[in-house]
Amino acid sequence: MRKPIIAGNWKMYKTPKESLAFLDAFLPLVEDHTRDEILLCPTMSSLGYVLEATIGTNVRGCAQNMHWLNEGPYTGEISPVMLMSIGCRHVLLGHSEQRLYFNETDDRVNLKLKAALNHGLTPIVCVGETLAEREEGRTEETIRRQIRIALQNVSSAEAHRLVIAYEPVWAIGTGSTATPDIAEEAHRIVRHELALCCSELTAEATRILYGGSVKPENISELMAQPDIDGALVGGASLVPETFAKIVHYT
Ligand code: PGA
Repeated sequence: MRKPIIAGNWKMYKTPKESLAFLDAFLPLVEDHTRDEILLCPTMSSLGYVLEATIGTNVRGCAQNMHWLNEGPYTGEISPVMLMSIGCRHVLLGHSEQRLYFNETDDRVNLKLKAALNHGLTPIVCVGETLAEREEGRTEETIRRQIRIALQNVSSAEAHRLVIAYEPVWAIGTGSTATPDIAEEAHRIVRHELALCCSELTAEATRILYGGSVKPENISELMAQPDIDGALVGGASLVPETFAKIVHYT
C-alpha cells in the first residue's frame, strides 16, 4: 500500500511571517485529513518556523535541497545533519530548477540521495524531461538515466524510504499539465527503471509523485491513475485554500 503524498513546493516564496500566516489558515482546513501525507517545502529561512509550527499536526516540513556532506567549507550550503537537528525528515533533491539554474547534476543527486538515506531523511528525487528532450523523442531515455544515476550503489534495502517526483520541465510553472495518460506513461517508466536498478519490491513500494501545474481542477484525474501516488505542487500550494482543495481531491 502506497500512502499518497501531497507536497507543496514554495520555491523562493514566503518569509517566516508569511509562512506562519499560511499555516494559520491552512492547518484547520486539513486538520482531520489522514488519507494522504501532507508536506510543505519552504525556503531555508522559513523551514525551522514551519517545522516548529507543525509539531503535533498532520503536516510535515521538507527542505528544498541539501549538501551531501555533514559539514565543511561550503558557503551557502546546509547538511543532512543540520536538517535532522532541526527536526526536518524530508528533502527534495534534483529539482529541475536546481538542474537548470544551478548546474545540479545526476552524480550530485546520487551523492545527496545516499546521504539522505544514511541520515534517516526521506529523499524526494525529482526527474523529468525538458521540452526539447520530449520533442526529440528522448523522454524515456532521460528519465531512465536520471533514475539510474541517482540510484547508483543504493541497495533495495536502503531505498525503502525513497520517493520519486516525475516533473516534466515543460509543465512546471507553465500552466500546461501533462495529461493523465502522459503522466501515467512516464510513471510506469520510472517504476520499471526502479525495478531494474533496485528490485521489484522497491518499484512496488516507492511512491511516485507527479508535478507540473497541478491545480484543484486537475488533481483528481491525475490521482485516478494507478501509478500516480501523489503530487508535488508549486504555484497552487502558495494559497492555503487552493492547496487545501488539492489535498482534498476526490
Ligand atoms: P508548478 O511547480 O506546480 O508551479 O508547476 C511544480 C514544481 O516545480 O515542483
